[in-house]
Amino acid sequence: MIIETALRTRQTTEYYFSVKLAEVRNLIANGHDVINLGIGNPDMMPSEETIQALADAALKPQAHGYQSYIGTPSYREAIASYYGRTYGVTLNPAAELLPLIGSKEGITHVSLTFLDPGDEVLVPELGYPAYRAVSQMVGAVVKEYPLLEHEGWQPDWERMESLVSPKTKIIWMNYPHMPTGAPATVPLFERAVAFAKKHRILLCHDNPYSLVLNKKAPISLLAIEGAKEVAIELNSMSKSHNMAGWRMGWLAADKSYIDAVLKIKSNVDSGMFWAMQEAAIVALQNDAEWHQARNAVYQGRLEAAEAFLTSLGCSWDKSQEGMFLWGKLPESVSSAEELVNRLLVEKHVFIAPGFIFGPKGQRYIRLSLCMPKERIWEAVDRLKS
Ligand SMILES: Cc1ncc(COP(=O)(O)O)c(C=O)c1O
Repeated sequence: MIIETALRTRQTTEYYFSVKLAEVRNLIANGHDVINLGIGNPDMMPSEETIQALADAALKPQAHGYQSYIGTPSYREAIASYYGRTYGVTLNPAAELLPLIGSKEGITHVSLTFLDPGDEVLVPELGYPAYRAVSQMVGAVVKEYPLLEHEGWQPDWERMESLVSPKTKIIWMNYPHMPTGAPATVPLFERAVAFAKKHRILLCHDNPYSLVLNKKAPISLLAIEGAKEVAIELNSMSKSHNMAGWRMGWLAADKSYIDAVLKIKSNVDSGMFWAMQEAAIVALQNDAEWHQARNAVYQGRLEAAEAFLTSLGCSWDKSQEGMFLWGKLPESVSSAEELVNRLLVEKHVFIAPGFIFGPKGQRYIRLSLCMPKERIWEAVDRLKS
């Protein structure tokens, strides 16, 4: 390459999975049967009605043109009604929702909308890597806030106070938490909203796991009184509706925040395929039984994943929610990276090392439940062999 790339390409490293999955593909190409427990890619189908609605809508002549930047009114109404039913949160569908091409996309748009170079962003010391990567890409300064393991991986609010400066603009938060599986609670959300109000910081909550293996009724940060003044919420159909490849999510927030993000986003993409929006309307109406059936499958897989952790001598917290299992390595394992590489090369089992979610994850691993339970049991057998 003779043309120099922008500085940000030198600050950002390629996504761990992007590199590691190439290695996995290589092993598979060489005839090895790799069991991939690394990546959280839901393998179950969306509801049948959803697929049918997609097929029906795709056959309509009007389906194929550009669509509105803010989604169809009926799609936004379906999301608003889902928020009402699921979380008891009232949203104005005409003003307080912005469909996104997956919530990951929203992290970039929110960052471009609110951050100037030099602004500071608080990200959890363990979390979805995009919060950090995108903040750095837009020239912001990342400050990690500690999570307290013995308090269920809740933020250390006292330390948070000392991290705030006049330049602090955004706090990223995500409960049920990935990767630790720590559940969301109302007191936690209340504390977060109060903190954001006190310091006038935008609280960005990322809520894709609320319906997966949840032990209590799902909650939204926007259900906290007065939250909309300072908080916005990303949500997604990827995990809750088995639609990760469809790339459908949304931002729920006060109109002023939505309008600001739309200013940026409308210059980046041009709406979303109409047939997908029609199908998503149907998916959002999946009944409680559909969600329970999906969770029953994950529950069966969780038991196999626990056996996997037991075989490795790991410990874990039983209160975890979401579609992963986060395990702590025993003292006898000196390095998670070495273990992950050894399991891949010797046992052809791929798991995620905890450090890719932040340095605090050095002594942890994450198993994904996105594999049939028979395959997870097979991975257990390989460990024993
Ligand atoms: C915490 C968290 N946020 C966001 C995403 C991205 O979700 P989406 O498929 O909606 O872009 C993921 C995906 O793994 C995630 O774990």
